[in-house]
Amino acid sequence: MRKRIGILTAGGDSPGLNAAIRAIGKTALASGIDIIGFRDGFRGLAEDRTMPLVWDDLVSLLTLGGTILGTSRDKPHKMLVDGEIRDMTGVIYKNYQRRKLDALLCIGGGGTQKNAWKLAQAGMNILTLPKTIDKDVGMTDVTFGFHTAMEIATEAIDRLHSTAHSHHRIIVVEIMGHNAGWLALGAGVAGGADVILIPEIPYDTEKVAEAIRWRKQAGRPFSIVAVAEGAISRQDYAALQEMKMRKHAAKGEEKKKIAEEIALFEASRQGNTQRLSQQLEAMTGLEARLTILGHLQRGGTPSAADRLLATRLGSACVHYFEEGLAGFMIAVRGEGAEPIPLKDVVGKRSTVPLDHCWLNCARRVKTCLGD
Ligand code: F6P
Repeated sequence: MRKRIGILTAGGDSPGLNAAIRAIGKTALASGIDIIGFRDGFRGLAEDRTMPLVWDDLVSLLTLGGTILGTSRDKPHKMLVDGEIRDMTGVIYKNYQRRKLDALLCIGGGGTQKNAWKLAQAGMNILTLPKTIDKDVGMTDVTFGFHTAMEIATEAIDRLHSTAHSHHRIIVVEIMGHNAGWLALGAGVAGGADVILIPEIPYDTEKVAEAIRWRKQAGRPFSIVAVAEGAISRQDYAALQEMKMRKHAAKGEEKKKIAEEIALFEASRQGNTQRLSQQLEAMTGLEARLTILGHLQRGGTPSAADRLLATRLGSACVHYFEEGLAGFMIAVRGEGAEPIPLKDVVGKRSTVPLDHCWLNCARRVKTCLGD
């Protein structure tokens, strides 16, 4: 009997997804394994919406951005169906059996690893690959999509430099990354940003303004401020910590009330980078402009490094399936691809350690980190 695997992509898209689909598909077909795609992440799995993947469907995918399978942020155990939130795990299990799958390969970020682990616990053979531009999945050196996004953000910083210089302005550039600073830090160092603000180091606005004023006095009346979307000021950080501590100590209704308070506070932080830009203008006397890179960082063709990584991981994933492994994420370890039990991956978000060499080198070249 020929073996058969299903594949889906979930969470925010990232460059390299199609390269991974191609690598999985070609490796599987070459080994006599059939492969079937599920559309739009876990939703397509719950709704049994599929896409056949034969050799011809896998051609010309290496350079293509996005995912031919489509994606969504739907969770198997909390899916909006007919206006209500339902646990679709049982339905998914039936579809898995109906399609006679020997395994399901899920490609995604931290949330997908968690959802995939839940499906593994429900009895399905699951293997996963780590992808996200944020590089925040635990237990893997890197995730595919990160390198391309870093290249895009670096090019943006390069381009912003000349206009900041010509107009003697501050340009604040907001870079994605969710609650991790990898992308802003990597692109900020590579692009020579004068200030880099990341969530791991709550910033002091006065210290940032001081660094910009110092540059102005030294004859450089322009500055590039690279801000991770999750960056937080010291005041906001202290306020958030205080609320979290109260929530931790509270019970019942009181706990709920504080949780709402936290949600409101988080929502009020929308537009934070815009506010920072205005504050810096007022504090330095230099005009400031804001650029939000947004989804530009996720679109388009993957870099050579991401194509290579997605191909390495995709082909290794099929190899581990053939070895009989299930319940693992295929992680990047140096030049190798290592299976890590999903239970050890779940809940381990990777953020920038405060002694990381990227931070050390940024400090040595006198980049302001807001502290
Ligand atoms: O996780 C990838 C990411 O691009 C984050 O950097 C960002 O916070 C988020 O997704 C944006 O999500 P969406 O595309 O759903 O707005």
